[in-house]
Amino acid sequence: LKKLVIAIDGPAASGKSTTARLIAERLGYLFVDTGAMYRAMTFKVLEQQLPLDDVEAIARLAERTEIQLRHQNNQLRVFLDGRDVTSEIRSPRVTRAVSAVSSIKQVREMMVREQRRMGEKGRIVLEGRDIGTEVFPDANLKVYMTAEVFERARRRQKDLQQQGIGVPVDELAREIADRDRKDSEREVSPLRQAPDAIVLDTSNMTIDEQVETIVRKVRSLTGSVS
Ligand code: C5P
Repeated sequence: LKKLVIAIDGPAASGKSTTARLIAERLGYLFVDTGAMYRAMTFKVLEQQLPLDDVEAIARLAERTEIQLRHQNNQLRVFLDGRDVTSEIRSPRVTRAVSAVSSIKQVREMMVREQRRMGEKGRIVLEGRDIGTEVFPDANLKVYMTAEVFERARRRQKDLQQQGIGVPVDELAREIADRDRKDSEREVSPLRQAPDAIVLDTSNMTIDEQVETIVRKVRSLTGSVS
């Protein structure tokens, strides 16, 4: 059986993470949420109170930073210099600052190196913004997941509600659109659809349908019937 690399990219809150995790579970593959790595770096930048426009200081800080993803009890946990920061990296503060930090070349180089190392042996699903275009341009399957911005905002609102946080949907839509714009306009590996990616517009799809569609593609590549 082939050992595939599956690349899932797309804009913010398009359901990449949930779908990628479930696909990995179904296939027995490793799941890598690359956004979590950029979030961990951003958390450190904020903690050290570095100005977000001090590119050189952030680049130097990145050289002294170790970010690790570990799978524990069926959960993906993020470690920053040995410390578990899995929940901290989801804060609105980190979300607002992450696009600035992830636009820095040296930060990206460090993350991409680690992501390629994790994917060396295949059997992996990575999700992010530049997986199919930059990290694994030869990935066996590339999916570009997207959805209408208000639908993404509604989904994000539902997630937040479950954590007891109420945010108006138009505010979330604005934040999401703003982050997509920054991620698409940056110079180093911007968010864009790889020419050979399959586009999955999930606006009217359930998570099950998303997972099923991609798993079926994978099966057709591996020739497995199970
Ligand atoms: O996927 P998530 O929303 O957690 O990603 C957070 C941010 O990390 C993105 O908005 C983007 O700025 C950055 N990112 C990136 N490249 C990736 C994954 C995430 O630049 N491969």
